[in-house]
Amino acid sequence: MPRRRAVPPLGLVLTLVLGLTACGGGGGHGGPGAAGVGDPYFPRSGNGGYDVTHYGLTLAWEPRGNRLTGTAEITARAGQDLDAFHLDLLGMDVTDVTVQGRRARWSRSGQELTVRPRDGLPEGRTFRTAVRYAGSPRTITDPDGSEEGWLPTADGALGLGEPTGSMAWFPGDHHPADKAAYDVRITVPEGLTAVSNGELTSTTTVNGRTTYVWHTAEPMASYVATLAIGRYTVTRSATRRGLPVYTAVDPTEAKDAGKVLAGLPGIVDWEEDTFGPYPFSSTGAIVDRPGDAGYALETQNRPVFPGAPDTGTLVHELAHQWFGDSVTPKSWRDMWLNEGFATYAEWLWQEEHGGDTADEIFRALYRGDYREPADNAQVWAFPPADPPDAAHISDPPVYYRGAMVLHTIRELVGDAAFRRIVRGWAARYRHRNADTADFTAYVEKAAPDRDFGPVWDDWLHGAGRPRRP
Ligand code: TRP
Ligand code: ZN
Repeated sequence: MPRRRAVPPLGLVLTLVLGLTACGGGGGHGGPGAAGVGDPYFPRSGNGGYDVTHYGLTLAWEPRGNRLTGTAEITARAGQDLDAFHLDLLGMDVTDVTVQGRRARWSRSGQELTVRPRDGLPEGRTFRTAVRYAGSPRTITDPDGSEEGWLPTADGALGLGEPTGSMAWFPGDHHPADKAAYDVRITVPEGLTAVSNGELTSTTTVNGRTTYVWHTAEPMASYVATLAIGRYTVTRSATRRGLPVYTAVDPTEAKDAGKVLAGLPGIVDWEEDTFGPYPFSSTGAIVDRPGDAGYALETQNRPVFPGAPDTGTLVHELAHQWFGDSVTPKSWRDMWLNEGFATYAEWLWQEEHGGDTADEIFRALYRGDYREPADNAQVWAFPPADPPDAAHISDPPVYYRGAMVLHTIRELVGDAAFRRIVRGWAARYRHRNADTADFTAYVEKAAPDRDFGPVWDDWLHGAGRPRRP
């Protein structure tokens, strides 16, 4: 059940233009915050010198011209003395920026919006920036050739952020390392529904326009923030534990999606039994038809599907709520921690629901005759913890070989200890960020009598197909 990019990698070479945006002057104390956080694959993503705690987005969308107008109020804490700092925003017209309520100077270069506040910001200060902006948000083409950012649909639009798409529809610190709470207030023409992350706290219609207010209290990485606008069939239910379920489905997909989504509460129940308590206050799904994006995405609370999903894909995207959305990678190098776990969740689901066991799937992949990916040899193209470049962070090794790493750990420690490790990992890094070194250290501590050296060296970091003992 392929759920990844429908579009083959283009193998684009990323030309990295660094350090163009240093901004000196400004007269305040301290220097400028950096234009990126040093991500090995997306060096311009995110920004240095501050940490966002809250985004308040007040947006309005008009079908005519696909026009988005809004204000982003960003509350952040300065991590150093700052006389300037960066936000990521690509496209859109900025009309006004204030910091602490005072007009600030600003300039733009590519995806960097550089803000120079009137007064310098001392380290430790919590400050509020408001950016007013408008325009027709861009669709961004990823290094691997797939589309993200803002995707127009037949009756609305969809905001998808992995890995860099969120800068198309709001300014922010767009790197997974900086998670924050969100309040999204979105006004659309009456008759359309606007869905985002978290919980819907109010719906108000005035003069032919409806405002939907969505609240996300738990920390959220901006790449899993979403906004879905369109005609939707909305269903509400609850899981066994009483977690609210909200699904929004494009009416043309409603029949097929309805059958699969009826199983969603039961999948969340099973995942809670397997991974521990669900990390957020609500769940659900969004099913829409973005013209060109043929992939599902684990947007927080309610993943997005480009059409009615199959059960495996639903299991996969919901597992990401634990692995990716709650335990979030420190950098894009750590993608296998997302995709390896979400893929292994599918294997475990099959194992416990009358399908192949994880061990059978592992062996078939090792032999090279599993039904996916199309070319099994792809699984050995590179080590999962070290993708060669940004165009390959969602390739088969990250998914399948990532899951195979987990299976080799299971073989080494046994089923009961493996379960404890999976649940313990999700609990230990709940709502935080983690990288591969955090993971290997966690596993070694959980099973100190085992030698994981060969697993890490051969399966995680080694080139080619590892030898089996
Ligand atoms: N994370 C998605 C999934 O497997 C796939 C995906 C969508 C993706 N966009 C991406 C992976 C960008 C890497 C980069 O559920
Ligand atoms: Zn995934």
